[in-house]
Amino acid sequence: MSQFIPYGRQSISEADIEAVCQVLRSDYLTCGPKVEAFEARFAEKVGAKHAVAVNSATSALHLAMLVSGIGQGDRVITSPNTFLASANCAAYVGATPDFADIDPASYNLDPGALEQAWKPDVKAVVAVDYAGQPCDMPAIAGIARKHGAVVIEDACHGAGGGLVHDGRSWKLGGHPWADMTIFSFHPVKTMTTGEGGMLVTDNDKWAQRARQLRSHGMVRSSADFVGLITPSEFPLPDFRSQLSERGPWYYEMQELGYNYRLTDIQCALGLSQLDRLDEFIARRCEIVARYNEAFAGLKFVKPPQLARRSQPSQISWHLYTVQMDFQQIGKTRTEVMAALKQHGVGTQVLYIPVHLQPWYRKTYGYGPGKCPVAETYYTRALSLPLFPAMTDEQISRVIQAVRGLA
Ligand SMILES: Cc1ncc(COP(=O)(O)O)c(C=O)c1O
Repeated sequence: MSQFIPYGRQSISEADIEAVCQVLRSDYLTCGPKVEAFEARFAEKVGAKHAVAVNSATSALHLAMLVSGIGQGDRVITSPNTFLASANCAAYVGATPDFADIDPASYNLDPGALEQAWKPDVKAVVAVDYAGQPCDMPAIAGIARKHGAVVIEDACHGAGGGLVHDGRSWKLGGHPWADMTIFSFHPVKTMTTGEGGMLVTDNDKWAQRARQLRSHGMVRSSADFVGLITPSEFPLPDFRSQLSERGPWYYEMQELGYNYRLTDIQCALGLSQLDRLDEFIARRCEIVARYNEAFAGLKFVKPPQLARRSQPSQISWHLYTVQMDFQQIGKTRTEVMAALKQHGVGTQVLYIPVHLQPWYRKTYGYGPGKCPVAETYYTRALSLPLFPAMTDEQISRVIQAVRGLA
C-alpha cells in the first residue's frame, strides 16, 4: 500500500539539520546568539518592534496575560473554536475565560457575537486566526478598545500570513489592531522549532517584562537593581555589609517568573525555517486551491470559505478544514475517518468547542447552546491533509478518497 498521508507534518531540510548541528558544535546550547537572531529576524519578518521567543505558544499566551495585567476579577473572551491554550491562559492568571460564538463562514470570532457577549469585567480578547485565516481584526479591535480591553491575537496557525484592510496588506503581528500577537512553532504549524512560541508587540514595557518573566523574573541590568539590603539594615560596616556587593555574578529576582526559555538549538531551526516560510505558504496555498477546485461540485463537502480581510495568496494556511454532511454520506464521522484511513488518508477534528470541555463546564457552568454556530460547526468539521511536502500524487489520492465517500 502507498505511504500514509498524515493530516499535518513538518518539513525538515538538510539545511535545517545542518543549522541545528552547527549549534550543537558551538559553545551555547541555550540563551546564546541564536535566540536574539531569531527574535530579530522574526520581528522584521512580521513588521513588529519586539519579538520574544519562548518555549511554547501556551507560555507566550500566559505571558501576554501577565504583562497586560490580566488577573483575578477579570474576564477574557476568546473563540470556542480553538485549542485549549487560548482560553486556559486566562485561567492561569485567575481570570475567567469566556467565549463568544464564531462566524459561520470564517470559523473565527464573530464581531457581532463578541459585542453581544461583552460584560463590564472583560479586560482582554484573544482573537484566534483559525486555520491561518485572519480574524476581522479592525472590527474586533474596535469593540475591545471602545471598552478599554487589550487585544491579543492568537495567530498560532498563521505565521507569515497577512490580512487586508482598505486595500492595504499587513502581516499578522505587524498590523495596528492587535496589542500582542502570539505564534506557535509546534511541528504541525506552518514553521517549526520542535516546540516553541513567539510573543510579538510594539509595546516596549510589555516586551521587556515578558523577557524578564520567561527567565524566573530575573533582572540583570544594574540600572534596574533595587538591592538585597538597604544601608539602614546594616549601618556599620561588618561582614554583612558585603551582602550589598554587586559583582559580575549578581542578579535580582523582583517578581515571580518562569522558565519559558527557548534554546539556541531550537532558534537555529527557527531561523532556517524562517528562510523557507514563504515557500511553505506558497505550497500550502497551491494545495488549498487544488482541493477547493476538486471539491466545489461535491454536495457533501463544503470547502473553507474565504474570510473577510483574507487575500488568497497571503493566507498562511495551517489547516484545510471542510464541513462534511455525514448524514448525506450515510456514515458517522468516525466511520468516514476510518474509510479515509483505509485509503491511507489521515484526518483530524479541530476543534472540540472549548466551552464544552468537562473542566470548563464544571468550573464556569458553561454548556451546550452557549455558542451554537461553533457547536454545529464541530459536528461537521474534518481537516484533510495539508503540509508543504505533500506531493501532487498525494493530493490526488486525498481528492479521490474524498470523492469516493458517497
Ligand atoms: C490556536 C492555538 N493556540 C495556541 C496553541 C498552543 O500552542 P503550543 O502548542 O505552541 O503551546 C495552539 C496549538 O495547537 C493553537 O492551535
